[in-house]
Amino acid sequence: MENPFKYGAIVRGPYFADRTEELAELVGEMNNLTRVFLISPRRFGKTCLLFNLMDKLRDLGFATAYLDLNAYPDVRSLAAALTHLTSKALESNTDKLTKIFSRLQWLRPKISVGHDGSLTATVDVAAEVKDALPALLEGMQHAERLARKRGKKLVVVIDEFSDLPKYDGQTLEKALRAELQQHDHIGYILSGSEQSVMLSMIRDSKRAFYKLGRIMALGPIDRRVYADFIYNWLQKGAYEVERQELEKIFELGRDVPHNIQRLCHTMWELARETREITPSLIEELPVVIAQQDSPHFELLWQAASQQQKILLIALSKEPDAKPFSGEFQLTYGIGPSSSIKASLDSLTRKGILFKDLGGSYQFSDTFMPYWISYLKQAEK
Ligand SMILES: Nc1ncnc2c1ncn2[C@@H]1O[C@H](COP(=O)(O)OP(=O)(O)OP(=O)(O)O)[C@@H](O)[C@H]1O
Ligand SMILES: [Mg+2]
Repeated sequence: MENPFKYGAIVRGPYFADRTEELAELVGEMNNLTRVFLISPRRFGKTCLLFNLMDKLRDLGFATAYLDLNAYPDVRSLAAALTHLTSKALESNTDKLTKIFSRLQWLRPKISVGHDGSLTATVDVAAEVKDALPALLEGMQHAERLARKRGKKLVVVIDEFSDLPKYDGQTLEKALRAELQQHDHIGYILSGSEQSVMLSMIRDSKRAFYKLGRIMALGPIDRRVYADFIYNWLQKGAYEVERQELEKIFELGRDVPHNIQRLCHTMWELARETREITPSLIEELPVVIAQQDSPHFELLWQAASQQQKILLIALSKEPDAKPFSGEFQLTYGIGPSSSIKASLDSLTRKGILFKDLGGSYQFSDTFMPYWISYLKQAEK
C-alpha cells in the first residue's frame, strides 16, 4: 500500500485531512460571491485547502480560476494569465475562446499546437502595449462580463497575494481594488502567507485593500480530527498503534500540517516492516527527518557567521531564549545587542529564522533545531 501521508505538493481527496468547517464556510462565502482574504503562517495548508475547495465548487457548478502570483514576474504575464484562465474556466471550446480573445483591445489571442496536434488558445498582452495595467483591468472586466453572459458564478483564487507589492505600486493596488469592487458575478479569494504583509495590506487605511473583504485566518487542524485521520490510515495499513501516542506528533510538529504530514510519512516508512508504532519510534522521527535534510541544513550552516552560529545553537537549545537580555549574552559570550540584532536580521533575510507575531525569533524549519542539537553538536 502506498504511503498515504503526502507532503510537499498539493494533497487532495482521501489524502486531505479535515478542514470541513473551513470548506463549508468558504463555499458559503463564494455562494454569495464575496471577497475573502485567507491568511495563515506558512505551510498551514492554504493552497491545499483552496484546491480542495475548487474541486468542490466545480462539482457545485461554479467556474474556477487559480493564479499564484509567484508564477508571474510582471503585470504583463499576470494580465495574460488572468484573462486566459478566467475565460477558459467559462468556455472550453478553442474556436469560441479565440473569438472571445480577438475582441479585446489590449490583449491578443495566441494559438498553440500540442504534441498530439490539438489546439489551445491563450492570450498575450499586445506587443506594442507598454503599460500592462489597462490590459489587466480589461481582463478582469472581461471575466466579469463573460460570467454574467454565461449565467455562471466564477470564483477567482489569487494565491501568494502578499506578493502583490512586487508589481511596484499603489497605482496597481488601487486600480485592482476599484475593479474588484464592481464585480458581482465573481467571488474572490486572496490568499497569502506573510501575515504581517497581508495584514498591513488589508488593514492599513492608506493602502488600497482596506476593508475590501472579510479576513479568514486559517488555524491548525483540530488535533482530535487530525488524529482520527492518521489513525484510520494506520489501521488501513494494518499498523499497530495506541491512539493516544499520536498526540506526541502534534507537539513535535508544532501543529503545522506540513510537519505533521512529514512526520507521519516518515513514521509509515520506518515501521513498514514491523507494522508497529512505538513511543520511541515517534520520539525519533524529528531526528530522522533532520538527518534526511542534512545536506540542506549544512549549506545554510556554512553560510552563517560565527556569531550567527552561536545564536542558532542557543535558539535550538532554548526556543524561548531572549537574545537581547544581558543574561543571554553572558551565557553565550556574544553581544552587544546591536550586533545580535544584525545577526538575527540576516538570519531572517536568509529565511532560516522568522519573527512571529509576538516578536520572537523562530526557526522556519521545525526540524533544523534537531539537526543543530543532535547532529551538528555530535560532530564535536
Ligand atoms: N488538510 C491537509 N491534509 C493533509 N495534508 C495537508 C493538509 N493541509 C496541508 N497539508 C500538508 O502541508 C503541506 C503544505 O500545505 P500548503 O502548501 O497548502 O500550505 P500553504 O499554507 O499554502 O503554505 P505556503 O504559505 O508556504 O504557501 C502540504 O504539502 C501537505 O503535505
Ligand atoms: Mg501556498
